[in-house]
Amino acid sequence: MKIIIINGPNLNLLGKREPEIYGNKTFENYFEELKSKYTIIDLDYFQSNIEGELIDKIQDTGFTYDGIILNAAAYTHTSVGIGDAVKAIITPVIEVHISNTFARETFRHQSFISPNAKGIIIGFGLKSYELALQSFL
Ligand code: DQA
Repeated sequence: MKIIIINGPNLNLLGKREPEIYGNKTFENYFEELKSKYTIIDLDYFQSNIEGELIDKIQDTGFTYDGIILNAAAYTHTSVGIGDAVKAIITPVIEVHISNTFARETFRHQSFISPNAKGIIIGFGLKSYELALQSFL
């Protein structure tokens, strides 16, 4: 089973960025933990701060992979393009967020991903990614 985690802008700063919201762990360390725990899954990871690169990766993986776990970060709330890409592909997408976006500013309550996601996992810290992964098993 081929699954990719796609992370959007500023998630490359996990571990350093607002640790009271996002925790102390780098995503690279967390990803290695996930890979060693779920050896039956062929797990890939991609991060970009650039909207078009995220769209390219969704298109590139969206017809061949078995699942996409997408945290589009701030673009969740702004990007019609990423929302359209999720709609255009056939691979199921699980939208994840580390923080509970509904407990934060109102601009974070809007998502262009959710209407076309298979499911949404929000607010469980980095564990949100693992829960999304388990949903594919
Ligand atoms: C986030 C929530 C977004 O509102 C924010 O812009 C992020 C991270 C999360 O995982 O909690 O960068 O997607």
